[in-house]
Amino acid sequence: MHNLPHFKLEEFWKKYEFSAPYLLCPSDAETWSLNEIIAMADPETKGLWDNLSLGYTESPGLPLLRKEIAKLYTTLDAENILTTAGAEEGIYCAMRSLISPGDHVIIISPCYQSLETLPRPLDAEITLIHLQPDCRWKLSIEQLQSAWRETTKLLILNCPHNPSGMLLDQDVFEEMIALARKSGAYIFSDEVYRYLEIDESKRLPALADAYEKGISLNVMTKAFGLGGLRIGWLASQDAEFLQKAGSYKMYTSICNSAPSEILALIALRARDKILHRNRKIILQNIELLDHFIEHHASALAWTRPESGTIAFLELLLPISVETFTEQLVQQAGVLIMPASVFDYQGNFFRIGFGRKNMPEVLGHFEHFLRAYENLYKAGN
Ligand SMILES: Cc1ncc(COP(=O)(O)O)c(C=O)c1O
Repeated sequence: MHNLPHFKLEEFWKKYEFSAPYLLCPSDAETWSLNEIIAMADPETKGLWDNLSLGYTESPGLPLLRKEIAKLYTTLDAENILTTAGAEEGIYCAMRSLISPGDHVIIISPCYQSLETLPRPLDAEITLIHLQPDCRWKLSIEQLQSAWRETTKLLILNCPHNPSGMLLDQDVFEEMIALARKSGAYIFSDEVYRYLEIDESKRLPALADAYEKGISLNVMTKAFGLGGLRIGWLASQDAEFLQKAGSYKMYTSICNSAPSEILALIALRARDKILHRNRKIILQNIELLDHFIEHHASALAWTRPESGTIAFLELLLPISVETFTEQLVQQAGVLIMPASVFDYQGNFFRIGFGRKNMPEVLGHFEHFLRAYENLYKAGN
């Protein structure tokens, strides 16, 4: 993988995820046990599970699974779905398929790192659009228009957005598609935090439904809480794109894990139950965070996220967020994610509120934060 830079976010997880006792920055919703998922099986999927053989699977994915995934979209069928190993493989295969040297590509920043660092070594000409906290991390029509060229080949979007939890406004969504249609550009839309909109009426259509050259990326990891399955997918009306991306998959994973396909199928058929529980946790946690941030307004500020499991908070205390993060994890065992992981310069950090134990972890965080607040109060 020469000329791919260090993956800062995933390296950060590698260092801390299984050693820090209190995770306050995960981006996945509360997970499930194997037994809980199996208990959700219907007679057909229970039969598939009980009689599963562990050979290779079909490269694009189990047809039944692809059919179930297609039901998440309004215009798609099984042949419009290519399953991948998590969302990450989907990003990799899509970028390799969509970008040729010299192509003009627009990327929204900050972002999940591979959305930016996979296109770079493909010698694309890249225009970054920088989201601003003062604009509530919202992408504007003006930003899109000024970045767009007649020759633009691809826009890479992540909505709901990591790390801010921002959604596009409806008018921006429509203008974006109009711009893309004019130049014949693809829109790659990372929608891994879809289904977790705080106000469900704000859920946007999937790009794969809304635009003939739109590609929607989703995964079992985030809203469903099943990251260990490593089942994600690319959805698109564009058969040629899916064909190309599928060819890249043959160089990466070839096919999915057989047990994961069946477990993902069971979970998707039980999606109402899974999403209901996970949304409930998120709605309770965000209410707690509302009070928490209000209570610590001299130390913390945020733009309340509109969707997802994560928020990007500003640390207002006179200490760098890097130092704060290091001391927090060493002294209190609580992990937050500093903005440097996103190559973002401000004194910000990401927190996650998808997990059931967030109230407890927040308690440990508060204890540590109070000591700092008192210290700086005493210093003033
Ligand atoms: C926006 C975004 N896209 C893709 C991924 C990768 O997802 P997965 O771990 O399921 O491959 C993540 C993970 O954090 C993410 O936040």
